[in-house]
Amino acid sequence: MKVFLIAGARPNFMKIAPIYRASQDFSGIECKIVHTGQHYDHEMSQTFFDDLEIPTPAYHLEAGSGSHAVQTAKIMVAFEGVCEREKPDLVVVVGDVNSTLACSVVAKKALVNVAHVEAGLRSFDLSMPEEINRMVTDAISDYFFVTEESAVQNLVREGKPVERIHFVGHVMIDNLLYQNSKLGDGGIDVRALSVYSLKQGKGSYAFLTLHRPSNVDNAQTFRGIVSALNEIAESTPIIFPVHPRTRKMAERFGIEFSERITLLPPLGFKESLFLWKDAEVVLTDSGGLQEETTALGVPCVTIRENTERPITVEIGTNVLAGTTREGILKAYEESLKKMARAAIPPKWDGKASERIWEVLARQC
Ligand code: UD1
Repeated sequence: MKVFLIAGARPNFMKIAPIYRASQDFSGIECKIVHTGQHYDHEMSQTFFDDLEIPTPAYHLEAGSGSHAVQTAKIMVAFEGVCEREKPDLVVVVGDVNSTLACSVVAKKALVNVAHVEAGLRSFDLSMPEEINRMVTDAISDYFFVTEESAVQNLVREGKPVERIHFVGHVMIDNLLYQNSKLGDGGIDVRALSVYSLKQGKGSYAFLTLHRPSNVDNAQTFRGIVSALNEIAESTPIIFPVHPRTRKMAERFGIEFSERITLLPPLGFKESLFLWKDAEVVLTDSGGLQEETTALGVPCVTIRENTERPITVEIGTNVLAGTTREGILKAYEESLKKMARAAIPPKWDGKASERIWEVLARQC
């Protein structure tokens, strides 16, 4: 069986790494990686391929940045050509980025089966581009691999056949546990990072990521968030690897960060993990970090109004803050207390990728 495994943007790379690795244990499966090129800067893409031991993609579509329509269209046109030439038996897409939507639509129209990994998550917020990507991808997928019970319920409510829904756990946690166990093996510039973490001492600094358009593309929202962060930084220094979108908008709006917030370029997976695993708290608007912090029991404050990953709030370490100054400060206090009663969600045990291939090998 010839399988295309699609990745395009930074959060995809953590998910395809364990899926690809596990595919090697299944004879009869030929897994080829297709990189759409949605993310292209070295530090947003190649660094992750190196860090996560992902082989060079069989195809690179070089789509690059653009408006949603332009980016999605470029990926679709390029991927259609590859599908016509190669005629895969199955296309595996992960997550909810524009590449996920683009490649699933192209595959389905070429009469190729689609498997969606991380299916069924819903924020019920249609102002989020990712929510549209999730809904469209799930509307046409043949296999739904889900990470948490809420996703099963969402898919059932939307009328998806139960025999197509597979609660396998979370491939991103497969990657996290694998990489965390190897963190001592080197490959990261611990000397540079120690300036921020080891010197500060375990649990004495916060780790921040912020890139969502709804948070950084609006000057007033962005300023409110940064004023809360500047206040937190007075007691706890913050380490902040800055996404290209955020850097651009901060410059445009003239946003001023406290000098106790250390601004860094985007980090590779290992460098980032090295820092956040020992943080007092992670402040983020990322989807994946909400889950990764829950898996390692690190307090997390999510700077968003909603989450498509409710298990992280229900039983994990996550606290939803909203995007106001008051909401973020309150959630910060609450997150530190919540840690003692947090637990790890079912099947987040590092074996999700294996389970996915077992299902596919049986059914395809
Ligand atoms: C995308 C995903 C989002 C994910 C995020 C992680 C969609 C709709 N959004 O958002 O779900 O959380 O990736 O990073 O797919 N840029 C660079 N270098 C790069 C890539 C982007 O400088 O390698 C800049 C460009 O100016 C671009 C902007 O960042 O316009 C945004 O990139 P884009 O891929 O459009 O969306 P993200 O905000 O990264």
